[in-house]
Amino acid sequence: MTTTTTAPVHTSSSLRVVVAADAESAAGMAAERISALIRSRPTAVLGVATGSTPSPVYRALQTLRRTEGLDLSQASAFALDEYVGIDPRRPQSYRSVIDGEVTRSLGLDPLRVAIPDGSAPDLVEAAHAYEESIRSAGGVDLQILGIGHNGHIGFNEPGSAHDSLTRAVDLTPETRRANARFFDGGIDDVPTQALTQGIGTILRAREIVLLAFGSGKAEAVARALEGSIDRSSPASALRRHQAVTILLDKAAASMVG
Ligand code: F6R
Repeated sequence: MTTTTTAPVHTSSSLRVVVAADAESAAGMAAERISALIRSRPTAVLGVATGSTPSPVYRALQTLRRTEGLDLSQASAFALDEYVGIDPRRPQSYRSVIDGEVTRSLGLDPLRVAIPDGSAPDLVEAAHAYEESIRSAGGVDLQILGIGHNGHIGFNEPGSAHDSLTRAVDLTPETRRANARFFDGGIDDVPTQALTQGIGTILRAREIVLLAFGSGKAEAVARALEGSIDRSSPASALRRHQAVTILLDKAAASMVG
C-alpha cells in the first residue's frame, strides 16, 4: 500500500498529526495500526465509529483479512453511539451499520460486539450498563473516531463536559442536517437524540486514532488541535490524552498551522 505522508505537522509526546496523501492512505494507516494490535493481542478491544469516515478503514481491514489472513474472530468491539428510538433493523441504525461494516465483514463474533441500546425503555440504566460492559471487558485498547463539522466526537456536541460518560444527548440541528444524507426522509427523519459514549468514556481508551477527511472538517480539526481546550470544542479534549494519532487528508488539514 502506498502511504505518502508529509512529516507529522504536530508532534508532542502524546499527540501525532499525520497528513496523508489522501483519505485512502490515511485509512490504510489506521487499518495497519489495528492489524498490528490484533496480531500482538488477538483478544484486543476495539472502539468503533460509524458514519462515512471510518468506512475506508473497515474496507482496508477487509483487504488485510483477505490478503494477509488478519483474524479478528477473538477481538471485541464497542460502538460509540446509537440513535435513540430508531428501529435497530433499519439500515440507518448504527446497529445495522456496525453489523454490516464491522461484525460480518471483518468476521467478529457478534457476541463480542456491543452497541448502546438506543431502544431501551430506561436510557439512564442502558447508559450505565454500557459503561459497565466496557469496564468489565477491560476497557478499550484502540478507539477509532471521526469528527463532526462542529467538533463533536461520538455524539458529544459542543457544550459536553470533557469528563462526561455514556448518556442520552440531544443532537444539534447541524448534526441532524449532516446525517440527513443517510435517511430517505431528510432531516425530519433523523432522530433528535442519541445514546453516546461520553468524552470521558472515550478518553479512557488506551489509544485513540481520529480520522478526518475533506474541507468541511478543516475548521473543526484546526480548533481541536490549536484552539482552547474547552467544552466548545469536544475534540480538543483529545489533547489531554496520552496516545492520540490524528490522520488527515490534505483538505482536512488545510486550516492547521
Ligand atoms: C459516529 C460518530 C460521529 C461521526 C461524525 C463524523 O459513530 O460518533 O462522531 O464520527 O459525525 O461523521 P462522518 O464520518 O459521517 O462525517
